Amino acid sequence: MENSSENPQEKLLDKYTVHERIGTGGMAEVFRGHHEKLNRDVAIKVMRTSLAGDAQFTARFEREARLAASLRHPNIVQVFDFDRQNDRLFLVMEFINGGTLKQRLEDIKSAGSYFSLSEIYRIMQQVANALDYAHGQGMLHRDLKPANILLDQAGDVYITDFGIARLLDSDEITRSGSILGTPDYMSPEQCEGKPLTFSSDIYSLGVILFELLTGETPFDADSPLAILQKHIHEPVPPLSLFRKGLPSGLDSVLQKALSKSPEDRFSTAAGLIDAFAREIYPSANPSTTASTEKPAAPATKPEKLWAGWILPVILIILVLSAGGYWLWKVRLTGQSVISRCTTIDSCERNASLLATADRPVLAVEAYRNAIARVSASEQTAYAKLPCNLGDAYSRLNKKVEAKGAYRECIAWTHNKTELTDLRLYALQRIKELK
Ligand SMILES: Nc1ncnc2c1ncn2[C@@H]1O[C@H](COP(=O)(O)OP(=O)(O)OP(=O)(O)O)[C@@H](O)[C@H]1O
Ligand SMILES: [Mg+2]
Repeated sequence: MENSSENPQEKLLDKYTVHERIGTGGMAEVFRGHHEKLNRDVAIKVMRTSLAGDAQFTARFEREARLAASLRHPNIVQVFDFDRQNDRLFLVMEFINGGTLKQRLEDIKSAGSYFSLSEIYRIMQQVANALDYAHGQGMLHRDLKPANILLDQAGDVYITDFGIARLLDSDEITRSGSILGTPDYMSPEQCEGKPLTFSSDIYSLGVILFELLTGETPFDADSPLAILQKHIHEPVPPLSLFRKGLPSGLDSVLQKALSKSPEDRFSTAAGLIDAFAREIYPSANPSTTASTEKPAAPATKPEKLWAGWILPVILIILVLSAGGYWLWKVRLTGQSVISRCTTIDSCERNASLLATADRPVLAVEAYRNAIARVSASEQTAYAKLPCNLGDAYSRLNKKVEAKGAYRECIAWTHNKTELTDLRLYALQRIKELK
């Protein structure tokens, strides 16, 4: 598609205007395009001309593009269209405007830094959701790697190129002994040219997790062939070789994900993420495995307060203390109490009493009253407020409003490490409300 880069306004099928080139991969160039009638930006992946002349390749391209287009998931780049014009095969997909995870990794590495564990959890959870969904549809990715994970401006994650690696069969992958693409994320069975299974994608996901944690892939060497050998034969290196201070239990999670034998790996991507979450949030680790993905909830989560013996204890404390008086007063005059608060703290206190007194309608109003007083510079200090508002809305089963409040709660944490638990709680609640 060299011509397109020289002639950016070229039209494809009279539908798409082709703008600047946004990337080049092993078998294609990717351009930003515009669908004129729908007035929306798209990404156009144009396969190398030499491949388009090959009838076998064209048939494979059409089959894989059709399969990829059948996937619909919020964390998978949507394929809109595919076609050919003259000797060019192209794929039209959703345009994601925040770069790739590969670029993010490089940026963080060159700043001498690492991803935070909460950020890794957030990214991995979205990738895992998408992967398990695709596997549920019978679709393997075959080339899962940070270059095939795109980010949008909000930091949400999208897997792209599902099944596209199948376009290059094993003969084409190895040309005169050299490997197209990178073997860094390839499973041992892929390195040996054996058939792939869903477990092969789980292995690649494990390599990505290793790289997000340490900034390095587990097996590095001077040549691609030497990397292949390491995937097949070498044990996974300990994370501490690359980054100090990570939870020690993470090594066994990585070892399971990167088992040489597919049967020994996690059977789903969610299983890998659950095991990861158990190590990084041990306080959120209940004795059963059923809901281990659930992160720690902030202390004010109402459902937790009502559980078991805590309820009577709290009630006794409330009755015996000044809070008991307030509770009584709140029950009688909730509305006037709301309007009378003058500071964020007093409004928050009222709101939490109303929530405890099981007056969610008034609690919503009181939390909103408190939130309205918070200035931009105070948001991190009061980030819990919108989460509490989300809880109050949840009690009223107002899902849309609750999700909005939890989103605000996430925004107010401003990615502060000390607010990780709160952020994860909000994310978990949003997920549960879907
Ligand atoms: N849907 C998209 N939206 C925005 N940018 C995209 C999109 N798809 C691809 N890109 C950009 O184009 C670049 C090249 O993508 P491409 O898939 O051709 O190569 P790759 O994944 O880096 O390597 P490989 O050829 O091994 O798959 C990506 O790195 C990304 O920057
Ligand atoms: Mg790609």
